[in-house]
Amino acid sequence: MTTKNQEHFYFAKHDTVALANKYGTPLYVLSEDILRQNIRVLQEAFRDVHFPIKISYASKAFTCLAMCKIIDDEGLFLDTVSSGEFYTALVAGIKGEKITYHGSNKSIEELTYALSNCVGCVVIDSEQEIPTLQQIAASLHITQPVMIRINPGIMANTHERILTGKADSKFGIPFAEACGAAQKIVAEAPNLRLIGLHCHIGSQIHDHEAYVAAASNLIALYKDISARLPVCLQEINLGGGFNIDYLEQETLFDIKGYAKALNQLFLKHFSDGNIAMPTVGIEPGRYIVGPAGITLYRVGVIKNLSGLRKYVNVDGGLYENPRPAMYNAEYRLLVANKYNQPKDDLVTVSGRCCESDTLFENVMLQQSEPGDILAVLHTGAYQQSMASNYNRLPRPAVVLLKGSESEIIIRREEKEDMISKDSVPSWLHAETKGEKDV
Ligand code: LLP
Repeated sequence: MTTKNQEHFYFAKHDTVALANKYGTPLYVLSEDILRQNIRVLQEAFRDVHFPIKISYASKAFTCLAMCKIIDDEGLFLDTVSSGEFYTALVAGIKGEKITYHGSNKSIEELTYALSNCVGCVVIDSEQEIPTLQQIAASLHITQPVMIRINPGIMANTHERILTGKADSKFGIPFAEACGAAQKIVAEAPNLRLIGLHCHIGSQIHDHEAYVAAASNLIALYKDISARLPVCLQEINLGGGFNIDYLEQETLFDIKGYAKALNQLFLKHFSDGNIAMPTVGIEPGRYIVGPAGITLYRVGVIKNLSGLRKYVNVDGGLYENPRPAMYNAEYRLLVANKYNQPKDDLVTVSGRCCESDTLFENVMLQQSEPGDILAVLHTGAYQQSMASNYNRLPRPAVVLLKGSESEIIIRREEKEDMISKDSVPSWLHAETKGEKDV
């Protein structure tokens, strides 16, 4: 048993400095224990509601084979938006029936792939998709369960770029046109079976009022469609979007309060026995994986520009975390090998991309020096999954922690990976060096 180093920051019982030294930096670290715990909190919150609950994990937040295995093991369903996400899930052993397929502009190839592999449900995002999907389902001689994604025209309280349920959005079928779309499915798509209505109003949403407003709209539509058309609807899916506490002053989404509010709403509308209580679907991504991840960096060059700013440069950057550049995202961070020292240094942390690449602007940090390890918290969602190879920078590894164990679940890319998909046209061949010559 090793003794705890009081100066070091521990995450999920692991010494983060030791992890950085063992696996290198930058490093994404994910705790399986925290992941499973977050899932349990969700399941527990909906334990006593009067509707069947269907929890899907939104794999766009972070996915890989190991992640899919954990999700499946916890009994969750999965939400996917691309052949890559869908393929990852299938290879991990998740049955097609447990997967929902989303997307605002799905290709014929990906829909054919999903339907051929028994995808549980396709969420139709536009009227244009109906005949395409009908043709594919007919050619495969199957009846495909589908939902319609409705744009409920609701403004939620979050960053403009991750707001998806407002009227001006590329997503979903406008509320006023939804009944027409349902009619079209019934009349013109015999190989599609409409099983429910879906909406997703945005991400990192702090309170449940907007959800309840969206749910009320969907319930009215659900009843209207059920009364007018020969369909057997069974699900209202309200999407994901629950916020996490990136900063200390933020509070985590009140999932229990949300479950309670939905319970009241659904009881009010479905207890007269006219229409059976639907299944309620939720699709959180960030809430499950966000707080389960941290990122470790090594400090390099420090530049103190007198009277201006102190730059602390780290070995990551916008290529491995584009969120600060895209959404002005803020995080909690600390110097992992000086955990107990006061945060009395005002710095700006920069990444290594050839851009200004400001990761964390004007943050209070422990006095840092080259070689220190910087830990950034709550980075499990939308970081690795949004990383790129800008500047041909190899993407970091992901290490999974469970109890006292740690193992790599996505390997670090090497410089050789940067050319692994390149090819040189025949007319340039003579001038190309072999890999071994460089
Ligand atoms: N369901 C649908 C249909 C979605 O489009 C999304 C997220 C989710 C569920 C999961 O939302 P969550 O619970 O993770 O908030 N890249 C942005 C977030 C974009 C979210 C897109 N859709 C970010 O880094 O904040």
